[in-house]
Amino acid sequence: MIEESLNPGHYISKVVSETMPAATLPLLLLMGFLFLMWNFEETSSIPGPGYCMGIGPLISHWRFLWMGVGSACNYYNETYGEFVRVWINGEETLVTSKSSSMFHVMKHGHYICRFGSKLGLKCIGMHENGIIFNNNPALWKEIRPFFTKALSGPGLVKMIAICVDSTREHLDHLQEVTTELGHINALNLMRCIMLDTSNRLFLGIPLDENAIVLKIQNYFDAWQALLLKPDIFFKISWLYKKYEKSAKDLKEAIEILIEQKRQKLSTAEKLEEHMDFASQLIFAQCRGELTGENVNQCVLEMLIAAPDTLSVTLFFMLALIAEHPHVEEAMMKEIQAVMGDRDIESEDMPKLKVVESFIYESMRYQPVVDLVMRKALQDDVIDGYAVKKGTNIILNIGRMHKLEFFPKPNEFSLDNFEKSVPHRYFQPFGFGPRGCVGKFIAMVMMKAILVSLLQRCHIQIQKGKGLKNIPKNNDLSLHPNETQPLLEMVFVPRTNMAKNQEIK
Ligand code: HEM
Repeated sequence: MIEESLNPGHYISKVVSETMPAATLPLLLLMGFLFLMWNFEETSSIPGPGYCMGIGPLISHWRFLWMGVGSACNYYNETYGEFVRVWINGEETLVTSKSSSMFHVMKHGHYICRFGSKLGLKCIGMHENGIIFNNNPALWKEIRPFFTKALSGPGLVKMIAICVDSTREHLDHLQEVTTELGHINALNLMRCIMLDTSNRLFLGIPLDENAIVLKIQNYFDAWQALLLKPDIFFKISWLYKKYEKSAKDLKEAIEILIEQKRQKLSTAEKLEEHMDFASQLIFAQCRGELTGENVNQCVLEMLIAAPDTLSVTLFFMLALIAEHPHVEEAMMKEIQAVMGDRDIESEDMPKLKVVESFIYESMRYQPVVDLVMRKALQDDVIDGYAVKKGTNIILNIGRMHKLEFFPKPNEFSLDNFEKSVPHRYFQPFGFGPRGCVGKFIAMVMMKAILVSLLQRCHIQIQKGKGLKNIPKNNDLSLHPNETQPLLEMVFVPRTNMAKNQEIK
């Protein structure tokens, strides 16, 4: 006892060496070191799960893969707050649903990159090609102007007539996609209209809509499945073969269409009549500014952008219309007052206030894209937190739209857009240098297609069914999970409605 109090260090080492085997000391030292590391990693002031000797990062990446990005982000924001630090692939990743941090990230030029598995992006052709997940800032800067030009100015005006025409044509052939019970797979119909309108404006080569729509869906499945996979996944070829094939199928189909376009251009008498998005890219390749692979990927991305986002958005809108008859009534009243029975034209667009509020509220309440992925290209401070260069950032816009500003955040109500909404609180398309390049054309297309459709049809869904019955993948973009039966709709032609009412 006296020895212990006079020289505790010597006493402890004596007791340890007497009572424990020789391996214990190194083990204790190792544990001490790990404990130090644990504490070191915990010094981050950003809320979130603990590092716990590397177990934290493993669990958080696993949660993203298991739950899907959307659900995992919501889980972390609900559990730890609206600004959270997690890990994906061992990389620090911030998930935020605060309007202030989103505004900061979207606005500044040092967040113009996204993040994702390099091998996954390579597998689907997006690595340093195209625009959507091109994470090479220099290459992306060369590509983006081609998209900006095609999606604004005269293209925007032309798109209105294209949308009206395409909607009319597809509705005229409705019986071909109607089941014996009179039901329609409205999502597929919307996808076909989107592909047709995009093709007419950006490429102009006849194509088999149904076949390409199916290939686009498979491409998206591959994209969602591969985007965050760890590198080890790509070591086992049978795991990713199926996805590689889906990407190859669509890429090959697009390559054939582009080859037809090249031939058309080489034999065209008046080139100016064929100067669309695809032609601009082909000529840039001829000048040596772009590679053939990049041209193919850009055309592919331009053709998939609307069939993915807009078709699902419009599908959700049709379901919301069927569920809210008073909203349909208000829109019909406005459509009648602005256009009567004629087709929509560009001057009508700003006059359709109710239709516009409906579109915004649908995108807020039932979003198709509710996440934006970015990377910090330099050290920064966001909302008082130090953010290191290379940090991944996920902007949880869907959650932000239900947390801040809106008077009835969890309800579908046009009251949410009765007053003008400051744009930092409503960002369905993102904004700034890497915001959605198609946001203006998207609004024009939604208005033109929705109005043309409502002028011709009244939408019904089965009693007791509605948006709540649509199972979601809840992944990158909230696609309905098509492995389960979809909400089928009935399109009642307005002429028949009038007749039915007369008969009654
Ligand atoms: C309802 C319709 C749509 C929604 C909700 C939507 C939403 C978005 C969002 C949130 C982003 C990411 C923005 C960011 O990082 O800040 C994005 C990017 C993009 N969108 Fe859209 N979008 C829609 C329609 C379209 C359409 C119709 C096109 C083209 C025809 C398009 C083309 C693109 C492209 C090319 C990008 C990538 C831009 C880049 O990385 O530079 N989008 N979109």
